[in-house]
Amino acid sequence: MFFGAVQLGLMAACVVLFVPMGMAGWHLSRNKVLFFSGALFISLAVCIHLIPYFPSFFPQTPSVISINQDLTTTNSCISTVNDVTFYSNFDGFSWNWDNSSRSSGLNDCDFQKLGRVDVLDLLNGSWVVVTGDSQARLFVVSLLDLVLGSDEMEKIHEDLFKRHSDHHIVVIEIGLKLDFIWSPYVTNLTDLVIEFKRNNTYPDVLVMGSGLWHMLHFTNYSNYGSSLRVLRDSLVQLLPVSNSDDDDVGQDPARVMHMFWLGMPTLINRLLNTEEKQVKMTREMCNAYDQELYKSKLLKQNGGSFFLLDVEMLSNRCGVECSLDGMHYNDVVYEATVHVMLNALLIESHQKL
Ligand SMILES: *[C@@H]1O[C@H](CO)[C@@H](O)[C@H](O)[C@H]1NC(C)=O
Ligand SMILES: *[C@@H]1O[C@H](CO)[C@@H](O)[C@H](O)[C@H]1NC(C)=O
Ligand SMILES: *[C@@H]1O[C@H](CO)[C@@H](O)[C@H](O)[C@H]1NC(C)=O
Ligand SMILES: *[C@@H]1O[C@H](CO)[C@@H](O)[C@H](O)[C@H]1NC(C)=O
Repeated sequence: MFFGAVQLGLMAACVVLFVPMGMAGWHLSRNKVLFFSGALFISLAVCIHLIPYFPSFFPQTPSVISINQDLTTTNSCISTVNDVTFYSNFDGFSWNWDNSSRSSGLNDCDFQKLGRVDVLDLLNGSWVVVTGDSQARLFVVSLLDLVLGSDEMEKIHEDLFKRHSDHHIVVIEIGLKLDFIWSPYVTNLTDLVIEFKRNNTYPDVLVMGSGLWHMLHFTNYSNYGSSLRVLRDSLVQLLPVSNSDDDDVGQDPARVMHMFWLGMPTLINRLLNTEEKQVKMTREMCNAYDQELYKSKLLKQNGGSFFLLDVEMLSNRCGVECSLDGMHYNDVVYEATVHVMLNALLIESHQKL
């Protein structure tokens, strides 16, 4: 290979710089020099962008360029997948992705609300585990709403809403196994991770989240932070997780889990339904708990393995009218969260419908 991308770039820079300078030596006016360098710059830019379409001229550079382009699109899309707007209308709430995030620069991100057939197709043969507190339970209800018919949903509804209990369901027609595991505390999440390791079985999709119970019953953010770090350490030690997009080469793809962190909702203090909650679960405490989550480096954006489902932002955007008790929100928030996860899953697994 004669030209790497860097050499090519340097050469282009030299041409843009020196050719007009040379011309200036021939007594061209400043405006003409500017015109020439502008024209040169544009034609070089056009050439560079055309190179990928004529791979035979440049055997190696095109692949570099197209991969980078691919990654930028993927990254910019995945970073806007939480950007959802809610609308209230006469019969309740609706939602959609922000216009700006649906088309972010280079390519349209093409986020979509998946229908039942698409979801069955995406989750066909998968094992999905959702674990956490009542927020996780509401997330599961929204996911099942997408997958099951309304009569099937009715049948399991009571069981699903039993307080503080697990729920296991298998959608036989596509071999989807969905487990909801009641885990109010981060220590419960860590225990579960250790159990996966002991059993040597790992779900394809793992959705975890915890914090509200700890805030109410311990009200100690540094303790929450250390429990998050224990969870992170147990994940790093125990699980065959790929931390970045490009190091799963050589790994058994069946063992690469997709991991999502179900963030805490925005709390609306004056609506909280007990005095104890109002006293302990203040805005300051919520902020301190958030900081611990970021500091723990559990999230992908901080170098960890969980993609954040930003329930805090989503619930905040839906607003006060959308909340029942300052902590649990209208179904529409969890519905949007499920679609955010499914779209992130599509992007992560490089699938298109
Ligand atoms: C699920 O996958 C199996 C095997 O790959 C396939 O035969 C079946 O048609 C799929 N079902 C759906 C609903 O996509
Ligand atoms: C979760 O952890 C708490 C505190 O460590 C423990 O008391 C409780 O039994 C656990 N709950 C479940 C469902 O494992
Ligand atoms: C581990 O295996 C046991 C026995 O098969 C099972 O009951 C349990 O649910 C498994 N745990 C997890 C987290 O998969
Ligand atoms: C909060 O947790 C930290 C770390 O676990 C502990 O050292 C500290 O004593 C706790 N603070 C209170 C007020 O309980």
